[in-house]
Amino acid sequence: MVKGAPIGVFDSGIGGLTVLEEIQQLLPHESLLYVADCGHIPYGEKTPAFILERSRSVAEFFRERGAKAFVIACNTATVAAVADLRRDYPDWPLVGMEPAVKPAAAATRSGVVGVLATTGTLQSAKFAALLDRFATDVRVVTQPCPGLVELIETGDLDSPVLHRLLQGYVEPLVGAGCDTIILGCTHYPFLKPLLAQMLPPNIILIDTGAAVARQLKRLLGERDLLAAGDPEPTQFWTSGDLFHLRNILPTLWKQPGIVRSFAS
Ligand code: DGL
Repeated sequence: MVKGAPIGVFDSGIGGLTVLEEIQQLLPHESLLYVADCGHIPYGEKTPAFILERSRSVAEFFRERGAKAFVIACNTATVAAVADLRRDYPDWPLVGMEPAVKPAAAATRSGVVGVLATTGTLQSAKFAALLDRFATDVRVVTQPCPGLVELIETGDLDSPVLHRLLQGYVEPLVGAGCDTIILGCTHYPFLKPLLAQMLPPNIILIDTGAAVARQLKRLLGERDLLAAGDPEPTQFWTSGDLFHLRNILPTLWKQPGIVRSFAS
């Protein structure tokens, strides 16, 4: 691995862009590759075996491009694939992500924490273990959000149908007395402006993008792999509709980026 090599970042779709942004802010010298597996979205309703197979083919794609690290910018894919990928590539710095239960348990004043996440994440043994470990003194109310990711993927983050669906998902959390809500899917930080309109002002929203960027920096630093100098332009691939990603990227990413088809 060389310092100037790129970092591969992966999600089922555009959600991981919320993590990519945190990485770019913290590590502005790094060259970034991003794969959106939009052709197979939503992962939240897929089997772990299917998601593992997809994650493996993205990992191989990044390896072929010499990536010095791999970030699974997706809670659902982390649950399904991170353990196997760590076994497959023991020497490759690999960062996964999980709902921020620990910081949320520390932040809540009401003692009730809400979690918005995909069905796959909420049903996993990994999430249950997270609750056992960090949520012993708080009540956790979970809310799966089917359909939300597909609406976010359209790129229209203010549509009436999105308003209605999201309202239906947050109401039970507010009703249960949550003062802290974990955004347990990387797509959901795109909904922060909408959530700010919907939620009482005292509610804290917590996501994991910045923590992932810090962990990546730590892993690269330990291996003396942090880049210096100017990065290459960020490159994007999608397994879904190429023109759709090209269309919506300027609103979501707000920087120039090359978009190609991911055929693996
Ligand atoms: N963005 C993904 C996550 O963090 C999941 C979206 C999907 O269901 O595909 O969980």
